[in-house]
Amino acid sequence: MHSDDRGIPRRAFLKSAVAIGGASALAACAERDPEPVPAGTENPSSLPERQHAWQQFLAQDDAGNTIPPRHHVLLHLEYDGDSPTERERQTVEDALRSLERAYEFSNEGLVFTLGYSPSYFETLGGSPVGVDLPAPRALSDLEDPELDTPDAVVHLASDRAKVVLRAGQGLRGENDALNGEPMEAALTDAFTVADRRTGFVGAGLPADHQDTGGVPDSDPVPEDAPLYMGFKSTFEKSQATEDRVTIQSGPFEGGTTQHASHIDLNLQQWYEQDGREERVAKMFCPAHAESGAVEGVGENLGDSPQLDDCADAEDAAREKGVVGHSQKLESVRENDRPIILRRDFDSTDGGHAGVHFVSLQRSISDFVDTREAMNGGDVTERSAVGRRRNNGIRQYLSVTHRGNYLLPPRSARALPSPGGVDA
Ligand code: HEM
Repeated sequence: MHSDDRGIPRRAFLKSAVAIGGASALAACAERDPEPVPAGTENPSSLPERQHAWQQFLAQDDAGNTIPPRHHVLLHLEYDGDSPTERERQTVEDALRSLERAYEFSNEGLVFTLGYSPSYFETLGGSPVGVDLPAPRALSDLEDPELDTPDAVVHLASDRAKVVLRAGQGLRGENDALNGEPMEAALTDAFTVADRRTGFVGAGLPADHQDTGGVPDSDPVPEDAPLYMGFKSTFEKSQATEDRVTIQSGPFEGGTTQHASHIDLNLQQWYEQDGREERVAKMFCPAHAESGAVEGVGENLGDSPQLDDCADAEDAAREKGVVGHSQKLESVRENDRPIILRRDFDSTDGGHAGVHFVSLQRSISDFVDTREAMNGGDVTERSAVGRRRNNGIRQYLSVTHRGNYLLPPRSARALPSPGGVDA
């Protein structure tokens, strides 16, 4: 582990800098990561029409799984105007293109999206044409989340903590130039920042940040775990493809929808009472626990959670009294892949271990169907598995917030009307 001269573990420092934000966090952070950041494109219009086309720009592991960028920021924004003008749209576009010129669109530089909520479109007189974008709501009878209704949300992601910090400053008008490129406008010329949420994902980061609410004091999170619960997630074959989540027609063709919830994790029992086998059974399936299919955080599984080796969810529930999280979700697969693309990350926001569960799907109903499968209603009716107890990982999760957004195609990302930017 790298330490600075005051003994702060380097990774811990980088994360808390993102969570804390501000000029001094950034200055200290840049001092610890002096390496230059690759420059962006001279021609932002050469970037893909899909804002969410990140995969081709991100690193992959040896098994061909996309590695999520390590540092994340979600900026919630309120639109200052009543009805977008061409000038405002130009301002927003200028701000975003400035980021694209400043940083390579990659995990080494910066990837980002800008999305808009149902309430934003409602203010402008309707819902986005051709898109399933309902207002967020509770998705199980065990939750009572706060429903997020900012007008817009920016998702910034990079392996470099200083990049998400600087980009955030640039968007807020606090930095005239990023990586030697001028910020031609700020998003705060058209919006007001309403909230800032942060997080991280990747080997070592959760272990370095386990001194927080919801995690027992015994430092149980494995050093190499990419997520607090101790397993690798986002295997290539347990993700929807970017094609599957892309809107196919209409003014927002090439866009996608984004669900962003925040979930508090309560890992006392997970680590202090459940053993390794129970954790594997609840996360994957009881058959994987019995066969020892999952080694460590699950790197040995390759590019798939190997759900073919799991029994049917109802059979497992009846025969083993436990059903796995991924096992339940197999029922919503299409062409042997899930229908949502997860881009979630862990967080210590609110002083508590949590997850910002960001996922992309063609329609919000794809997310709702997936979440219903995770609730396991059928399973609880026909077995001893409870709504919480032995029902995948539900017992350890409390949903605190939910929000739905449309990520328009790049050409319609600047303050779209319900009919697109030309409407
Ligand atoms: C918040 C804590 C959560 C953790 C730690 C977690 C972790 C995992 C892990 C380790 C896997 C198995 C590896 C994989 O298949 O990629 C998985 C699969 C999956 N999870 Fe979660 N998950 C969480 C919440 C959710 C939520 C809220 C949803 C959405 C409803 C969800 C949807 C999925 C889907 C669709 C799969 C793939 C299943 C398949 O392969 O068919 N997860 N998750």
